[in-house]
Amino acid sequence: MNISAIGVFDSGIGGLTCVKEINRLMPNEDVIYFGDTARIPYGTRSRETVLRYARQDMAFIKKFDVKIIISACGTVSSVSLNEKNFAGEDCLYTGVVIPAAGAAAAATRNKRIGVIGTQATVKSNAYAKVLKTINQDIKVFGQSCPMFVPLVENGYVERGNKVSTIIAEQYLKQIKNEGVDVLILGCTHYPLLTDIIADFMGNDVTLISSGKEAANTAHAILTKSNLLTSNEKRGTNRYFVSDGVESFSENAALFLGENAEDCTPELINIDEFLAE
Ligand code: DGL
Repeated sequence: MNISAIGVFDSGIGGLTCVKEINRLMPNEDVIYFGDTARIPYGTRSRETVLRYARQDMAFIKKFDVKIIISACGTVSSVSLNEKNFAGEDCLYTGVVIPAAGAAAAATRNKRIGVIGTQATVKSNAYAKVLKTINQDIKVFGQSCPMFVPLVENGYVERGNKVSTIIAEQYLKQIKNEGVDVLILGCTHYPLLTDIIADFMGNDVTLISSGKEAANTAHAILTKSNLLTSNEKRGTNRYFVSDGVESFSENAALFLGENAEDCTPELINIDEFLAE
């Protein structure tokens, strides 16, 4: 048993899809969340830059007493797939790719799986690599959806939103035509657009939330290592961002169904922190 917190980071608000599931599965755990909103997007940057940012984000998270770090960022998880001990030897870690790929492989019946994510995620081929090791017969169809992230960060998420619906149709029509029966939402922002994506893809397509699957994996790791908290009171979420406190708290409250005050993040200056 261990009362340390669960550390979660993302380039922005998308990692809350993971936090929501952590709170549901492990309500007594404390969560430290960092959204690097000053440097979002990660998905258009080079592999080297994404890895550097991710290591800096984890250095910030490690200022706190954490027992596991979750990279709730599809881009970080994809480009770091082959990095050994990515969070350091002293810290348990999971990204989103291996958990989401496992869930998708278990869910598909026709072995045709779509993956949507940022440009960096799709270019990395990380999902195809993992899925092929699970089952060589699986066919993977990737599509980057770069405009989804700003739509989510700006709150264009409600079912029927005209702008998001048109953009979703443009991005998803080819994957839909491929006849996939599972679609991995490989960017943690995308589950906030679930209604819009599901309406277009249809009921026969199972959507996999990569952030949610990462929370499941973290739960399994902590259970197996006997590291779940012994605290009986409800855990607390503490949020940090590197910019945009107000928009984060509004969107986070909307998404988590909490009061905006409870989701108000603390602002940190990542450059000053790194210079310390
Ligand atoms: N959260 C990022 C991801 O899951 C998307 C936003 C970005 O490009 O940084 O890939």
